[in-house]
Amino acid sequence: MSEDPSDTRVAFVLAAGLGTRMRSRTCKVLHPAAGRPLLAHVLDAVAAAGARPVVVLSRESDPARAVVPEGVPVALQEPPRGTGDAVRVALGAASGATGTCFIVYGDTVLVRPETLERLAGELRGRGAVLAILTGVVGTDNEYGRIVRGSGGDVDRIVEHRLATAAERRITESNFGAYAADLAWLRSAVPKLRANETGEVFLTDLVKVARDEGRTVAALSTEDPSEGLGVNTRADLARIDGILRDRIRERHMAAGVTFTDPRSSSVDADVEIAADAVIERGTILEGRTRVGRDSRIGPYSILRDTVVGERCRVEASVLEEATLEDDVRVGPFSHLRPGAYLERGVEMGNFGEVKASRLGSGTKMHHFSYVGDAAVGKGVNIGAGTITLNYDGARKHRTEIGDDVFIGSDTLLRAPVTVGDGAATGAGAVVTKDVPPGMLAVGMPARAIKRYERPKKAPK
Ligand code: UD1
Ligand code: CA
Repeated sequence: MSEDPSDTRVAFVLAAGLGTRMRSRTCKVLHPAAGRPLLAHVLDAVAAAGARPVVVLSRESDPARAVVPEGVPVALQEPPRGTGDAVRVALGAASGATGTCFIVYGDTVLVRPETLERLAGELRGRGAVLAILTGVVGTDNEYGRIVRGSGGDVDRIVEHRLATAAERRITESNFGAYAADLAWLRSAVPKLRANETGEVFLTDLVKVARDEGRTVAALSTEDPSEGLGVNTRADLARIDGILRDRIRERHMAAGVTFTDPRSSSVDADVEIAADAVIERGTILEGRTRVGRDSRIGPYSILRDTVVGERCRVEASVLEEATLEDDVRVGPFSHLRPGAYLERGVEMGNFGEVKASRLGSGTKMHHFSYVGDAAVGKGVNIGAGTITLNYDGARKHRTEIGDDVFIGSDTLLRAPVTVGDGAATGAGAVVTKDVPPGMLAVGMPARAIKRYERPKKAPK
């Protein structure tokens, strides 16, 4: 990223605040947007800008440690005494480092790596000790206001709640991302003092720099969303929406069709191959992957599910399932964790599959439940078939061989095996294994004769 190898980059990510305005028992930066915790978005952005992060947490926000990648230092600020105090704590964890230091608030989720890059450029280009990301966003907001001197340079930042009426009319605001010269930062932060609110404001660094006769640069971004902080649930919803807009744009640019983009929602870590079609009302969550030429939706939910190429999923719910290529699911099917459908499987309406493998070419067209089963290739599962996998205390497995014909309304009381090429009659209650090639009928089902598969009528 940076061209000068001596210009190492660190990033202080401040997340020790209490986030009281969220009214939550969960600490703020763990709330998800686009399927990932807020903090993870910020850590990604600073990493993409080539910076080594240091995360500042407090006792209250300590659970956020769970999403801090291994090797990333966490500095504890206890108690949190303000953003300036948080940077003091972060400096303690970055001793020895020189170069550029980004400071990003843990709730400034939408800041782009390219913008941080530009901010670093502004710092160096202007020979400044501090560069502030700002935006012109009108006056109906509670951002800190950027007060510029007669020469146009930044004089100070005044918090909205401490600002005079005239200062509140300033339209340029502090967006909560900074680049600073790390060596200078080390000398300047100890000069910050608690103000009338009892807090140590990072924003007061501007005054420290100005008193030393140093330059403070400001980069005004054209995209007002980059400054959105998450203080309330309403902010969280807004940011989630913007992130999802960006995600869909990214997939469309990479060759994915959305038939009604605004009605579909895609989590940040989802992968979609080119020429896939996402139909309206479709929700793709977690680590879901969709292969080339597959068509998902309308109205489907896929959670941590892998879909191969040329698949068709319609109005269904798939959780932790795997579909090989050319699989058809739905409408109205439910795949639960551990469902694995091999190539060419067809699953129709009102089917449920859990922790089971269906072999290639197997058809399960109408209202059936298959749980804890291994089903072979080319099997026909008749309407209303049910694996009775649970005896009230334990789960048992059902094994069905290749080319089996399961008659409509068959109950398979597990543990039970149906051999290759066998068949069951309509309404059979299978309590004992059916040998390969035999037809079992009745309740309980008995194997009565060899099964002759009827010839298919020519189409
Ligand atoms: C801050 C800025 C404001 C700016 C706005 C942009 C200050 C004083 N004000 O206000 O000028 O317009 O962000 O969104 O910086 N934090 C700590 N330790 C603390 C206090 C806060 O780590 O002791 C962290 C918080 O977890 C949060 C971030 O710093 O992620 C910002 O704190 P927050 O209280 O949200 O500041 P704002 O009032 O939004
Ligand atoms: Ca904030």
